[in-house]
Amino acid sequence: MNMWLRCRTLAFTLGVTGAMLNVATPAVAQDPHRVLSPDGRNEVTAEIRGGRFYYSLQRDGRAVVEPSRLGFEFRGKPPLGEDLRVVSTARNTVDETWSQPWGEVREVRDHHNELRISLVEGAAPGRQLVVVFRVFNDGIGFRYELPEQPDLREFEITEELTEFVMADDARAWWIPAFQPNRYEYLYRASPVSTLDTVHTPLTMEFRDGLHVVIHEAHLVDYAGMTLIGGREQNRTLRAYLAPWNDGVKVRGRTPFATPWRTIQLADQAADLAPSVLGLNLNPPNVLDDVSWIRPMEYVGIWWGMHIRTMTWSSGPQHGATTENTKRYIDFAAENGFGGVLVEGWNIGWDGNWFENGDVFSFTESYPDYDMPALAAYAQERNVGLIGHNETSMGIENYERQLEDAFRLYQELGIEAVKTGYVGDETPEGHAHHGQYMVRHWKTVIESAARHGIMINAHEPIKDTGERRTYPNMLTREGARGQEYNAWAGDGGNPPEHETILFFTRMLAGPMDFTPGVFDILIESETGMPRTPQQSRLRTTLAKQLALYVVLYSPLQMAADLPKNYVNQPAFQFIRDVAVDWEDTRVLAGKIGDYVVVARQERDGEDWYLGAITDEEERTFDIPLWFLPEGRSYVAEVYADGPGARWLHNPFPVEVSSRPVDARSHLTLHLAAGGGQAVRIRPAN
Ligand code: NOJ
Repeated sequence: MNMWLRCRTLAFTLGVTGAMLNVATPAVAQDPHRVLSPDGRNEVTAEIRGGRFYYSLQRDGRAVVEPSRLGFEFRGKPPLGEDLRVVSTARNTVDETWSQPWGEVREVRDHHNELRISLVEGAAPGRQLVVVFRVFNDGIGFRYELPEQPDLREFEITEELTEFVMADDARAWWIPAFQPNRYEYLYRASPVSTLDTVHTPLTMEFRDGLHVVIHEAHLVDYAGMTLIGGREQNRTLRAYLAPWNDGVKVRGRTPFATPWRTIQLADQAADLAPSVLGLNLNPPNVLDDVSWIRPMEYVGIWWGMHIRTMTWSSGPQHGATTENTKRYIDFAAENGFGGVLVEGWNIGWDGNWFENGDVFSFTESYPDYDMPALAAYAQERNVGLIGHNETSMGIENYERQLEDAFRLYQELGIEAVKTGYVGDETPEGHAHHGQYMVRHWKTVIESAARHGIMINAHEPIKDTGERRTYPNMLTREGARGQEYNAWAGDGGNPPEHETILFFTRMLAGPMDFTPGVFDILIESETGMPRTPQQSRLRTTLAKQLALYVVLYSPLQMAADLPKNYVNQPAFQFIRDVAVDWEDTRVLAGKIGDYVVVARQERDGEDWYLGAITDEEERTFDIPLWFLPEGRSYVAEVYADGPGARWLHNPFPVEVSSRPVDARSHLTLHLAAGGGQAVRIRPAN
């Protein structure tokens, strides 16, 4: 049964697909065309100036994006974007609410006004171009459509001319694009006018407090978009697409539609999340049955490799042995975790695995790993094995084996696979997030769906909302995660890191950050305390707990070695915390400083609260207004203990509980680099 329950909520009902109003106007006037958001606050203006097509965006009558050019350049064809004329416009309104099978919130309202503008070139060959704008209360999306036409059949885009002329030299939180480690960099903040080439989501704060995020949605057969700034063009950001190995950006044939370019708007940082703009711009779920898709917590043979006490490769320290995996399965079963990730189980890890893209087998195990027996052992204990497919960007090798591998996993009852794409381009030279890889990405998701497999992708292409259409695309990495604390060599992620991720990377979608490392100094195995300059976690232990609530992922790892959870009262929070949410409320937040978020468990009555801070100690007074009136709850609090702070004393956690209800306030004391996690459960 399709669980994406659609309910129509408002007027203008036309047909079965939701509430719509379609009005085609025979407009030939070359005056500006305008379209407002349903609340009237956001306004897009589209107009021809000197034969070129421009859009601009205002909120409450003040400029957000100044007139910005749209168009394309092609290989072997004249550019499309000169001598344009509007031939017709059409308007449409949608107001419908749809349900997510899993997510940060259950119900999502899609309420927008649409303006389609059909353009034609004045000069021969007179090619046609359509630009569609959708204006929501939380931002806008626009995309290009190239209709089927005699003078534009097959094409190769060499440049997308989309501009974003920011009305303010806003402060932007950015990571650099086209670097070896893909999206895995520490965010830096600087004015738009100083940016070089950066990834999206790009979050900006205007000087009057408006928050603006440029990103994209529904990237399925196109190149990933980065943004080229500012240095010379000042406040102008331009789309810059990741290339094929011959420099072409996108290959296609008409009819063709690009991904949506999105501009999310919020009056304050806390209003940015949860972000549903991109989800609303993706097509609905195409999977008939989603009952097999289950968010869960998992453990794994993983951290040991990152702290170098186990190996992926065969040999005396091989992590993925049958015995070791059984221990992890037992641990998962005892603690109610749904899955066990096993890395290094398959042939191909020996030598320098970064270079083994054409060597990996995705069906053959090392001799000391009995996959069928382990899959059965896990199933008997109500635990699932999570298979691991590191490709090292050897895409052809992976695609050759994909169907066989996924069929095998399905036969064994392995319902989740973690994919990996270490590398910044394929051996043939296609960019990590260019069209070649975007197509591969879709191939994997579709094949996985056919075989009942959930995907957790590492070194992914950024999230552009595919999970709406394919809910088996559960989570991904795509930022500096916990693993950098094991080996980055730059001290690890700084205390502010996750308070930035929440307002940047996480606006795109869930992240497999892998929280929950209790051995903060990473010394238990090696017996060698690390100095703060070496890699270690730069958080308190309580902050590790809070990350389960703050950093959303439907697959959430308890990343540490099982033995580090033994006799730890704080582990109870990880056992209890939910992974699927009815609702999410951001209670406080400032980019790079702090986040306080409350989430209501789906199909349950608990609420969970997570609060994190940067290197500053902070206190919050949090009224629990979000609880239902008249009900009694118990707050189980995991707070930074006396004297805790990330640098010299990260371990103390104070566990306490107290009765609360909708009128109570919680006072949260967060240590420097600290956090607090609270389970709020009904009182019996
Ligand atoms: C990088 C991934 O992020 C990490 O989780 C994985 O263990 C290694 N690649 C090996 O695939």
